[in-house]
Amino acid sequence: MSGDARKTAEGLSYLSGFGNEHSSEAVPGALPEGRNSPQRAPLGLYAEQLSGTAFTEPRAHNRRSWLYRIRPSAAHPAFGRADNGMIRSAPFTETVPDPNRLRWNPLPEPAPGTDFLAGLWTLGGNGDATQRTGMAVHLYHANASMHRVFSDGDGELLIVPERGGLLLRTEFGLLHVEPAEVALIPRGVRFRVELLDGSARGYVCENYGAPFRLPDLGPIGANGLANARDFRAPVAAYEDVEGPVEVVNKFCGNLWSAMYDHSPLDVVAWHGNHVPYVYDLRRFNVIGTISYDHPDPSIFTVLTSPSDTPGLAGVDFVVFAPRWLVGEDTFRPPYFHRNVMSEYMGLVEGAYDAKAEGFVPGGGSLHNMMSAHGPDRDTFEQASAAELGPRKIDDGLAFMFETRWPVTLAAHAARADHLQRGYDGVWQGLERHFRPLH
Ligand SMILES: [Fe+2]
Repeated sequence: MSGDARKTAEGLSYLSGFGNEHSSEAVPGALPEGRNSPQRAPLGLYAEQLSGTAFTEPRAHNRRSWLYRIRPSAAHPAFGRADNGMIRSAPFTETVPDPNRLRWNPLPEPAPGTDFLAGLWTLGGNGDATQRTGMAVHLYHANASMHRVFSDGDGELLIVPERGGLLLRTEFGLLHVEPAEVALIPRGVRFRVELLDGSARGYVCENYGAPFRLPDLGPIGANGLANARDFRAPVAAYEDVEGPVEVVNKFCGNLWSAMYDHSPLDVVAWHGNHVPYVYDLRRFNVIGTISYDHPDPSIFTVLTSPSDTPGLAGVDFVVFAPRWLVGEDTFRPPYFHRNVMSEYMGLVEGAYDAKAEGFVPGGGSLHNMMSAHGPDRDTFEQASAAELGPRKIDDGLAFMFETRWPVTLAAHAARADHLQRGYDGVWQGLERHFRPLH
């Protein structure tokens, strides 16, 4: 079965561009021309709008799509509460916010039969899902494909695979995402995750706030960072399935389940800009110094979810992609830092240039608001003595979810066996070098 899924995944075609007014039809003639909601939609389909922003938000930020489907989404039975598993939501009240620097090893192997939804494991978060503000950090581990369908009314899901490819079957069509790529499922969009390699592991940023957008480029100019045309949306594809399908809906922090008598992935055509997409992080156009010092890591922002305060993100998604370091008379690893923002970092592959050990693929670190962090002792000593020729950093792919509020842990994350004890030790032994001149 996973062989078939991989063949399907590798044969997909896409629509290109970020935030575009895309349109797509799986059956010729399914998309109405000249209006959104004709008296009778083509081919006996139902027309339905899906709003990702309020009707009246500025045109530049407005997100909505029109779906033409076999049955309207309204045709469903009542939802009943389902077990939340290891998923937690904001407001996070199980623990008190922790000022300590924290680091985790990868999740342990999941129990047999764990699908993507059952394998979601919340680390923590901030804000309030019912107020559409803040974010949650999740990890996932899975060894079974989903047969059920999931949608998240609380926020959009930025999926960052670390191990194992995924085939995402969404209302809008199919997406293929591998480690070093990311996928985004917008708020409310139904989808199913099939595994391409038998097992999968990775990270998820659940963004309760404004939909991710590309950051403004300012003096960088009209190009650079993540280029809009490298984002890929699916083409329309639908399931015509009559029979029981479990649909799980995350709503205000809880999972709810209903048994439909058909698949809700029955959208035959669609148009709009509230769409799922994938992006290959290796396409990121990395910009950095060509003289001295290096810019703040905001220069590595792929996507940003703005807040009501200009320049203050609810959450930024930042990637530390392969790049050249050429700064003269410059301490080249990331600098020592205390930040009003809170930083969750994960590692997709290889190593990260500020940590000689202990920060491993599938693991992660949390440096909450104002916690002091930076290179470990070995990295500091090496970097301070290094010969400063041009050097390519190409042995790792790290990322950061940087958020405006402290991340409060779920109770299970605070007491997890894979929470590293003694992380503070990496900053021990930083020697005193101060030699005052008399
Ligand atoms: Fe930092």
